[in-house]
Amino acid sequence: MTAPATPRRVLTGITTSGTPHLGNYVGAIRPAVRASRQPGVQSFYFLADYHALIKCDDPTRVQRSTLEIAASWLAAGLDPQHVTFYRQSDIPEIPELTWLLTCVTGKGLLNRAHAYKAMLDKNAAAGLDPDSDVTAGLFMYPVLMAADILMFKAHQVPVGRDQIQHIEMARDIAASYNHLYGELLVPPEALIDDSVALLPGLDGRKMSKSYDNVIALFGPREQLRQQIMGIVTDSRAPGEPKDTEGSALYAIYRAFVDDAEATAFAQAFADGIGWGEAKQQLLARIEQEIGPMRARYEHLMANPQEVEAILQAGASKARALAAPFMHTLRQAVGLRPLHAARQAAGAKSAQKVALPSFKQYREADGLFYFKLLDTDGALLLQSLGIASPREAGQAIGRLQAEGAAALAALRPLLQPVANPAPEALQQALERLREAGTSV
Ligand code: TRP
Repeated sequence: MTAPATPRRVLTGITTSGTPHLGNYVGAIRPAVRASRQPGVQSFYFLADYHALIKCDDPTRVQRSTLEIAASWLAAGLDPQHVTFYRQSDIPEIPELTWLLTCVTGKGLLNRAHAYKAMLDKNAAAGLDPDSDVTAGLFMYPVLMAADILMFKAHQVPVGRDQIQHIEMARDIAASYNHLYGELLVPPEALIDDSVALLPGLDGRKMSKSYDNVIALFGPREQLRQQIMGIVTDSRAPGEPKDTEGSALYAIYRAFVDDAEATAFAQAFADGIGWGEAKQQLLARIEQEIGPMRARYEHLMANPQEVEAILQAGASKARALAAPFMHTLRQAVGLRPLHAARQAAGAKSAQKVALPSFKQYREADGLFYFKLLDTDGALLLQSLGIASPREAGQAIGRLQAEGAAALAALRPLLQPVANPAPEALQQALERLREAGTSV
């Protein structure tokens, strides 16, 4: 159902319950920032703070983590002009969609979620009530995540392997909704990048907060030095050849260099470089990449209002898409003005009464556009480039609410339209207005 010209939409969320570490940088932030710069991709990155509430009940930590994660992504080069970068809780349409999806999601589907089942198993092993410490939030986690994804019609969702099941559930949930109400939701696919390094932590196990073996991403330089000096090595003395295989130090270095530098470092290992010297080289290499970003990170942490303003701008960009789509999704399930319901009563179900539709999109020039397509796909109205997504959304809202009467006032935003407007355009706008699709 997506036209060939539609850019590939990629979306990913970051739960705001921790402080980014070097493993997050190498495994998620760096590849995502790089991918967001590819042509032909429309990227959505958001701070999943509603998800954070499921595992964290410390308000200060949720707020601080949101700031730290936003500042880290921005410092690492995410360009909020180019991507849509927002905070989940700024988009009221997401919990709204969560409810519509909840009503088409089988409880049995959620019973099978790995994270939920792991809790039940843990409780059983401890001889506790199976639902001990299991909130309804944990149980509903996959539905909220499906709403995140389906709200923006994401085609691909880059995630770690542990999240694949959630993407499959989002597909199942989309299929249930579409089966009942028409093909409105786009089933997403998980995007797994196996070339991304899984970074070991200080002790050689996977770098993870739960193992307490992390290297902070934007800690003070001295902290970075101390953490690197703390990487566990073996007892071989300088001059003795060392193994790269199984060496956390080597693996971390590898994640920051190209093949030639990696080969040179491996040679230094074979030649018996001392661990202290190897750690110095690792520190220098990490610092070369992270150091220039640290100043920006520190600036943003000291000026949270700047981050807030960036997130607010992102939220209005996101809502310009979410609000009209949510509107359509509400209509389809029967949450709609009563005169619209009466009109549709004769039809088998509401969405089968095809309506002309607005399409909103962004072009390579960075401007926002919309167009009105007739039910047969014919172009009825085309906007000019509009700087703000909010303005574009408002123009659509006016056309939906006021019909052809709004055309005169909106002329500066539109490609020339004859006066009076062509019959087909007038009729289409009238049908939309009658259907009650005002935003
Ligand atoms: N569950 C994801 C994680 O823990 C975070 C997340 C929330 C997410 N909503 C999402 C990821 C939507 C991708 C798409 O990593």
